[in-house]
Amino acid sequence: VVEPSAVAATWVFTDHVLRCVLCQRTYPPTYGAATCPEHGSPGGVLDVEQVGTASSRGTGTALVANANGTAHGLPGRASGGVGLAPGYLARTPLVDAPRLAEDLGIAQLLVKDEGRNPTGSLKDRPSALAVELALALGYRTVACASTGNAASSLAGACANVGLVARIFVPAGTPAAKLAQLAAFGARVVLVDGSYDQAWRLCESAVREFGWYNRNCAVNPYLIEAKKTCAHEVAEDLAGEAVDWVSVSVGDGCTVSALYKGFQEAQRSGVLAAVPRLLAVQAAGAAPIVNAFNAGVGEVDAVVPHTTADSISVGSPRNAVKALRALAGTRGAAVAVDDDEIMAAQRCLARLGGVYAEPGGAAGIAGVRRARHAGLVGRGARVVHVATGSGLKSSAILGSAEPYPLIEPVLSALNAVMAEEARHL
Ligand SMILES: Cc1ncc(COP(=O)(O)O)c(C=O)c1O
Repeated sequence: VVEPSAVAATWVFTDHVLRCVLCQRTYPPTYGAATCPEHGSPGGVLDVEQVGTASSRGTGTALVANANGTAHGLPGRASGGVGLAPGYLARTPLVDAPRLAEDLGIAQLLVKDEGRNPTGSLKDRPSALAVELALALGYRTVACASTGNAASSLAGACANVGLVARIFVPAGTPAAKLAQLAAFGARVVLVDGSYDQAWRLCESAVREFGWYNRNCAVNPYLIEAKKTCAHEVAEDLAGEAVDWVSVSVGDGCTVSALYKGFQEAQRSGVLAAVPRLLAVQAAGAAPIVNAFNAGVGEVDAVVPHTTADSISVGSPRNAVKALRALAGTRGAAVAVDDDEIMAAQRCLARLGGVYAEPGGAAGIAGVRRARHAGLVGRGARVVHVATGSGLKSSAILGSAEPYPLIEPVLSALNAVMAEEARHL
């Protein structure tokens, strides 16, 4: 392992310091994974805070680095000014879903379909950056603990550049996500326990073996990549404000990153106002929702249980930042039960044409709840971030009617259609 500080000099990270979210002390850039020496993990999460003006930081005018290689607020290589894996990551679409908006009783619903990322989730953004950083710092192995998506995205990004991905996932991780890991050739251990236990094991292993750490709550740089999702939304809105952005929450990194990205978009004049954030958790794994609604700054860990595997997190690692994102946007937090999540997955697919995994669709259940509670008004314009593809889970089959198996003759089809007609 090359000493990180020696190699970091070859990088043009925008001038920055790392600020502890608890004590506000600042520390010099590390380019690696670090928490506040005073507060440690999980409390002392650091934030990358830029120093200097936008014009001294970037070479282009776009906020987004993925497609065009220019970026404000995003690290880049000295040679090309490229921040995030060009050609590997592509911009994801903001899909207008008028039928679902009508069903939800709101004026407009736009779905940011993060399932269209290369391995099918928003996690491809931070994984691409983690790999770029690991390469620049001279690491050969990158590790993460994951409910599945960070893992498959890291495995794909590592495969693209020839690094080793060390993956710690709970034994209950869905087969589709394990299949991705197998395809990309990651070194995987199934941890006989929860995500929280897998996370702790991964942290010990990173210390023991000196791997690059891709865990978002201890690697402050990764939020800099996640926030490009908000930059893209802001650019696609072309200056028009939206009232709410809904997103599902596990550790709390994604909602924090959206907050940062929208704040930057507003500061640079791309977005008229920072939207209110609607954080949605499964009722069986809702420590951040509980803390926010109780008005307390600290979360009480829970034993998580939900079918939405990707947000099954009992001890969130980035709760402080997440709670600040909600407070800072006059946001709201709602917990939805598993039936609501599965109904949301169906609605998003059938009325929006976007197939998201349960954890990626949970935000739609949150919007419905918030609409019923009068929090989200009839005239509201809402963006939902669909964080992961439905192809990562076959959960929907659990509630779907079995398909009729028929002889390959028209008479058999006629019988099925007659049966259908009887149920109309
Ligand atoms: C599909 C999906 N949605 C939402 C989340 C929650 O993100 P965070 O843990 O950053 O809050 C995850 C995290 O794994 C995820 O995979």
